[in-house]
Amino acid sequence: MSRTRSRPLSRRQFLASTGLALAAPAILPSSVFGQNSPANRLNIGVVGWGIMGPGNTQAFLKMKDCQVMAACDVDKNHLQAALNTINAHYRNQDCQAYRDYREMLARKDLDAVMLAVPDHWHMLTAVHAAQAGKHIYGEKPLARTIVEQQAIVKAVHRNKITWQTGSWQRSVANFHKAAELVANGHIGEVTHVEIGLPAGHGSYTPTPPSLAITDPPPDLDYDFWVGPARMMPYREGYVHRNWRWNYNFGGGRLLDWVGHHMDIAHWGLGFDNNGPSEIEGEGEFPPAEAPWNTATRYRIELKYPRRITMTLAGGWNDIRSGTKWIGTEGWVWVDREGFEASNPSWKDDYKRLPEEMRAKRPLYVSANHQRNFIDCIRSGQPTITPVEVAHHSTIPGHLGLISMLVKRKIRWDPSKEEILDDPEASRLLTREYRKPWTLS
Ligand SMILES: NC(=O)c1ccc[n+]([C@@H]2O[C@H](COP(=O)([O-])OP(=O)(O)OC[C@H]3O[C@@H](n4cnc5c(N)ncnc54)[C@H](O)[C@@H]3O)[C@@H](O)[C@H]2O)c1
Repeated sequence: MSRTRSRPLSRRQFLASTGLALAAPAILPSSVFGQNSPANRLNIGVVGWGIMGPGNTQAFLKMKDCQVMAACDVDKNHLQAALNTINAHYRNQDCQAYRDYREMLARKDLDAVMLAVPDHWHMLTAVHAAQAGKHIYGEKPLARTIVEQQAIVKAVHRNKITWQTGSWQRSVANFHKAAELVANGHIGEVTHVEIGLPAGHGSYTPTPPSLAITDPPPDLDYDFWVGPARMMPYREGYVHRNWRWNYNFGGGRLLDWVGHHMDIAHWGLGFDNNGPSEIEGEGEFPPAEAPWNTATRYRIELKYPRRITMTLAGGWNDIRSGTKWIGTEGWVWVDREGFEASNPSWKDDYKRLPEEMRAKRPLYVSANHQRNFIDCIRSGQPTITPVEVAHHSTIPGHLGLISMLVKRKIRWDPSKEEILDDPEASRLLTREYRKPWTLS
């Protein structure tokens, strides 16, 4: 099923559209020409094969109405691992390999893409994919800056594509139940929310990476990997998995996690399209020139509509990991490890709320995040985490970081999406792009 073509491609058209592929298969897959495949199968391309790319892709591989037909990575070893996995699954050699995602996007026979690249690449890959008319399964945080996020939201709307964000906690029953209890008023009026995220830096590689300056490994196209970010001499600890610990590429623990637990907080409060008006953050930072310079400890106080306050913190013992809503008549806490509430009878993990308790404001139900994406491409309905939701779930993290950097309270207009009366803080809403890449 391709939105952009009504007839199967001829062999000649197919070859032309894939002319830049690194490795065309010796025999073109008959399925591409529609001979063996159900006419409505969705063709998917995957970009980025690190931590998240393989996990997301496995979900699509299991679906009989999808075919993962293209993979892209700027690291040859990661790309080969992607091909090995995908081809082993289908027991063929059909998956096409790309180093440059733009060449993959030029294929007319791709319906959708899964993007799991570092944060500094989110905006360009997503905007280009939207412009190419591809539906997008993208990752959290929506992007590295608020201005980049705005560009993604605009491109998704303008091109009328389906977007799903990898804030998959919304598709898990106990997060759904917790948010629905709050949304249906079972803890009364919410007054305060505590959101606990991880702190520090943690190597995501089995052995800690070297932080010394060296030549990049020959299999990694480091210039492409850095892309629109500022060029910095190569260090192993800047790239795969550990890019999150330098602000040139990611946003540390805060931006890594805000799209999960703040996303759930907003969901329960009905703030999917809303945001804070005042943000005051304090953080502990290594020296700016340190290879890993993201905040190791942080605490951000936020003011929201309905006189609700929130504390978003990492590394503070009084704020428990996860999301805790506190209301006039009780409280609910949820995390990946559990669910607790002021009313012990609500604790029945991994089961959804009984119908009568959710009748006032039932929240969107999805049992499988990737399946929800595919179903919504077919139905044209919004996914459980559309692009505006991802944008708003992440904004408090970006603003918290800006407040920590300028070391003062900032004020935000959630409807105009502007920082008020603070030119220095406003400048941090965006970043310079390294040529030839531009912020479109
Ligand atoms: N939803 C979740 O639970 C979850 C968990 C982990 C990571 N993530 C998100 O997934 C994204 C990827 O994170 P990760 O931990 O998998 O990173 P990673 O470094 O492990 O993997 C990223 C991959 O992308 C490749 N890459 C980089 N730039 C590229 C480009 N321009 N074109 C093609 N390939 C490129 C890298 O070579 C690498 O293989 C991030 O946004 C991260 O925040 C989400």
